[in-house]
Amino acid sequence: MQRYEATAEARANIALTKYWGNADDRLRIPANESISMTLDRTRTVTTVSFRADLKADEVVVDDRPLAGAALERVVRHLDLFRDLAGTTWRARVVSHNNFPTGAGIASSASGFAALTVACAGALGLDLSPRDLSRLARRGSGSAARSIFGGFVLLHTGPSDEDAFAEPLHGPDWWEVCDLVVVVSRSEKKTPSTAGHHLARTSPLHLARVARVAALNERLRQALAERDFATVGEIAEEDALLMHAVMMTSRPSLIYWLPETMAIIHRVRRWREEGVQAYFTIDAGPNVHVLTLPEHVDRLLTDLRADPVVQEVLLCRPGRGASLMG
Ligand code: PMV
Repeated sequence: MQRYEATAEARANIALTKYWGNADDRLRIPANESISMTLDRTRTVTTVSFRADLKADEVVVDDRPLAGAALERVVRHLDLFRDLAGTTWRARVVSHNNFPTGAGIASSASGFAALTVACAGALGLDLSPRDLSRLARRGSGSAARSIFGGFVLLHTGPSDEDAFAEPLHGPDWWEVCDLVVVVSRSEKKTPSTAGHHLARTSPLHLARVARVAALNERLRQALAERDFATVGEIAEEDALLMHAVMMTSRPSLIYWLPETMAIIHRVRRWREEGVQAYFTIDAGPNVHVLTLPEHVDRLLTDLRADPVVQEVLLCRPGRGASLMG
């Protein structure tokens, strides 16, 4: 049987400044620029086979077939590549995450980055990393950043051409650690795609978009100077700004739980004790604690003794997406 097949790997990332809200919902062009760190421990491996004999696309993630809106989202992504390659062949997609789903790490970033690289490889498309990043963005905005390793900036602009990610520093630039503190494994009720649509209903949205542009300038400089206190302060400020937008959207989105607040206060207590730790939080209740290697043992001991903590995942800067085999 004729088939075009490739396997790719990609990792999730944590946004130090967040992408929240779109300038263009259909093209997923972000309302603001964002800067992230790709995470080494959170890997997705995806195999795509375009085949002449398939009647419909089939997508299996962690041994479970996708259906409904989740399947539709992947089919739309496959359509982008079918258009580019000039084929109508349907595909079978098999994807595995090496991190537990519901661990507070969005698998959409690693998932759509791996899918993008695998589709381009399978169909023999000669695309630059920038093109791959733009295409990954159409599946999930944060996936545009996971095409690259280390510390990554996602640009935005008026058109599809302007919204792509670029690496600022490779994974070996600086050993920033991200302790992913899992306080709940329940599925979030409002996925980020729906959340992005609500951002503009918040009276705080435009104020945040203006503020984050200034934060990104300072963050770029702080990453270049390896100034951890500034990186941490900016990450906390923008996490709070994004959650303020979420909370004041109509309808209002509150992703935090009492356990989220407990970890926020714990992080602030560590700082009072001289430990360099800062928090950031994505569209869910789990908390990412950013720190430096010399503090990791102390923080892990405290977190593991805390009854609100279900699990802690230790991540460092990771590599970008690539074809395998
Ligand atoms: O890529 P999406 O649509 O899952 O959106 C990402 C949203 C946040 O994780 C909350 C922020 C970010 O920039 O990663």
